[in-house]
Amino acid sequence: MGAGDTADTRYVFRMAAAEDAAGIIELQERLGREEDFLLVTPLDPVTGALLLMASLGPSEPPGASRVIVAEGDGEIVGLVLCRDHQHPSLSGMVHLALCVDRDHRRRGVGTSLLRRVLEWARENGVRRLQLAVFAANHAALATYRKAGFEIEGTLRDAAVIGETAHDLHILARLVVRRHPGVSSQTIPEAP
Ligand SMILES: CC(C)(COP(=O)(O)OP(=O)(O)OC[C@H]1O[C@@H](n2cnc3c(N)ncnc32)[C@H](O)[C@@H]1OP(=O)(O)O)[C@@H](O)C(=O)NCCC(=O)NCCS
Repeated sequence: MGAGDTADTRYVFRMAAAEDAAGIIELQERLGREEDFLLVTPLDPVTGALLLMASLGPSEPPGASRVIVAEGDGEIVGLVLCRDHQHPSLSGMVHLALCVDRDHRRRGVGTSLLRRVLEWARENGVRRLQLAVFAANHAALATYRKAGFEIEGTLRDAAVIGETAHDLHILARLVVRRHPGVSSQTIPEAP
């Protein structure tokens, strides 16, 4: 049984709905304070929550955020935010942000969330999933690589924490290929 299978028996993974907005904001902003390598811009307490709720509603606008959550004992303990582009030419290049509560790490929750993202991406014709990760964030790099993401390049000295500039790696996983004259083709599972 792999880590993801273990997580599947202990946690519920589901697409977030508008009523999850408060739990999502709480987890993201708390981890943003706790973690050096998770950059979270706190939302405006009124408009931020409303905007997130609207984007999680049943008729999301183009380019809206989708969030998949991991729930344990009725609490949101992990989430992955998927943000598409509004411009039609860039739509289908989806940016990810992933986080798991400290008490629930190394149990396969991150891996299971990324598996759900991949399923959702395939069903929705997403071309590529991508994100930037601090080069020093070994836990995140290992989690994404295990899910078939590859480093495409490095943004040198891109982010500053305290006095120190850090490199960011751009990671991506291709999902559905679309090229002129070729019908769309789903990229197979990584071995
Ligand atoms: C990155 C993060 C989401 C991983 O979540 P998780 O639920 O612990 O991940 P998993 O249990 O699925 O681990 C997947 C694999 O990554 C590797 N890994 C995860 N955390 C690790 C760590 N601290 N040290 C070494 N390897 C680690 C392991 O290979 C692990 O597989 P294994 O347990 O079968 O060996 C979590 O550490 C986190 O929330 N970090 C803070 C937020 C962040 O940095 N997000 C990424 C930027 S978007």
